[in-house]
Amino acid sequence: MKLTIAITGASGVVYGKRLLEVLHRKEIETHLVISQAAKEIINHELGTSEKSLETLANHVYDVDDWGSPIVSGSFKTDGMVIVPCSMKTLAGIANGFAENVILRAADVMLKEKRKLIIVPRETPLNSVHLRNMLDLKNQGVHIVPAMPAYYHKPKTISNLVDFMIGRILDILEIEHNLYQRWQEVQKTG
Ligand SMILES: Cc1cc2nc3c(=O)[nH]c(=O)nc-3n(C[C@H](O)[C@H](O)[C@H](O)COP(=O)(O)O)c2cc1C
Repeated sequence: MKLTIAITGASGVVYGKRLLEVLHRKEIETHLVISQAAKEIINHELGTSEKSLETLANHVYDVDDWGSPIVSGSFKTDGMVIVPCSMKTLAGIANGFAENVILRAADVMLKEKRKLIIVPRETPLNSVHLRNMLDLKNQGVHIVPAMPAYYHKPKTISNLVDFMIGRILDILEIEHNLYQRWQEVQKTG
């Protein structure tokens, strides 16, 4: 399996980091792009530079590297995850505004009808955000808001993060035990 992963400038960059860790452990090939805004937020929220995330990926591209393979539909991948996804990047994808490598790679997913998973993070949402999400949903995009559940009784922030990553892996059909499913919760109480 081969996946494109993008981390954009929304709060919750820890989700991107954790997804990379899990995919790395599962030896799934990853092609990573981190936006400039995301690099600053990684610094602020994780207290580290983007380099520590880049070491978890197989290939890393600059957001302006038009020579990177992921800008072309002829480069076969099994899908793309944008986690977290800013409202700016969401708007760019919804409107075909492919002015950087992340936006173009997402545009490729749409035109090639490949799996695109977007993890938007903003609150509250305005009608432009909601309209953009609906437009993308209607094109077959998986909209997976960074909204962890609480029915599995999380005790740590990691439990909340892993719930979200588990939901992403469910869509990608990758086996995992990152969170306890409702049926298991019912059995264990
Ligand atoms: C600390 C910080 C947190 C931010 N959090 C969000 C957020 O949660 N959601 C969002 O849509 N934008 C957020 N922004 C604004 C985006 O970073 C900004 O719109 C940026 O242009 C996004 O660019 P990108 O999509 O290319 O990464 C945040 C900015 C900063 C500095």
